[in-house]
Amino acid sequence: MSRISFENRVAIVTGGGGGIGRTYALEIARRGGAVVVNDLGGDVAGRGGSASMAEQVAAEIRAAGGRAIASHDSVATGDGARRIVDAALKAFGKVDVLVNNAGNMRNALLENLSDDDWDSLIATHLTGSFRITRAVWPHMKAQRYGRIVFTASSAGLFGNTMQVGYAAAKAGIAGLMNVASLEGEAFGIRCNAILPNANSRMAEQMLKDWDPATQAAGAAMMSAFGNAMNPEFNAPLAVYLASEACTSTHALYSQCLGRVAQVMIGVTAGWQAGRDTPPSVEDIASHWSEISDASRGFSRPNTSAEELMSLLAPGTAGR
Ligand code: NAI
Repeated sequence: MSRISFENRVAIVTGGGGGIGRTYALEIARRGGAVVVNDLGGDVAGRGGSASMAEQVAAEIRAAGGRAIASHDSVATGDGARRIVDAALKAFGKVDVLVNNAGNMRNALLENLSDDDWDSLIATHLTGSFRITRAVWPHMKAQRYGRIVFTASSAGLFGNTMQVGYAAAKAGIAGLMNVASLEGEAFGIRCNAILPNANSRMAEQMLKDWDPATQAAGAAMMSAFGNAMNPEFNAPLAVYLASEACTSTHALYSQCLGRVAQVMIGVTAGWQAGRDTPPSVEDIASHWSEISDASRGFSRPNTSAEELMSLLAPGTAGR
């Protein structure tokens, strides 16, 4: 396998000033890419801000002979997202890669999560990913090339207590990626999402916010992970998805303790009611085991139209 290079490529890494994002920025730069290291530089909840986190990583890249500039705009505002893209165009003339990695964390049981916390989580993860993707889109479309890596999470796709706002935002990112990948395909824009795992400040905060029993169980697990929770374990997958070599689009991938795997949303074979009259509630109850029976396999429609088509002409649609 020849070396995967980012020579002549320009990447924006949001939230690149620390944690997992820093490892993405460093790895792309090591492989010859010019990087805009964007980071608000606030705390784990997304409060406050400073230029220093982004500056430090950009300086680290330049000190190693790479090309990087720092940006400390917030992805969560329309102006901030535009300024990040403008900074890339001004410094390096184009944008080939966008890694939507910036994020914050606010944990509370559903009934206790404030409007402010909910709004902040949706604004940072979901709206932020949308706004900056929208800002790079015309440039990627015009050059007929782009790689966009979104950041979802196991909390959003599978569930995690105390994280209703965070999880909703992360699951929303899967929907954003689904449509971006379909609309980008004809223009050479490939979009995928990673579900990373790392013992970053975010994971430390999650541990602190759990009740004492869950905290103890979580801490015990952490010590069994060895090095595999180091943020660096996520970079190979994300950087592959950001590269020209990436053949995938419209997919979710998990990196968990060094195991890299595709995450899929599947539809069971289900139970087919007649098409002339709606079934009764009792029909649903009596066919429940067929409806939820996973043993007969899954279909994975590529679009909502494909789900409809697959029922009219079985076996013709899906991935
Ligand atoms: P982190 O807190 O170290 O990194 C997030 C970075 O985003 C921070 O440097 C922060 O300053 C920056 N940021 C926050 N709000 C921003 C904004 N509005 N604009 C620009 N930058 C902003 O945490 P970590 O773990 O490195 O997280 C990276 C991504 O991975 C996040 O999207 C997170 O939700 C996701 N993730 C992390 C997991 C983990 O196990 N650590 C698990 C699943 C997903």
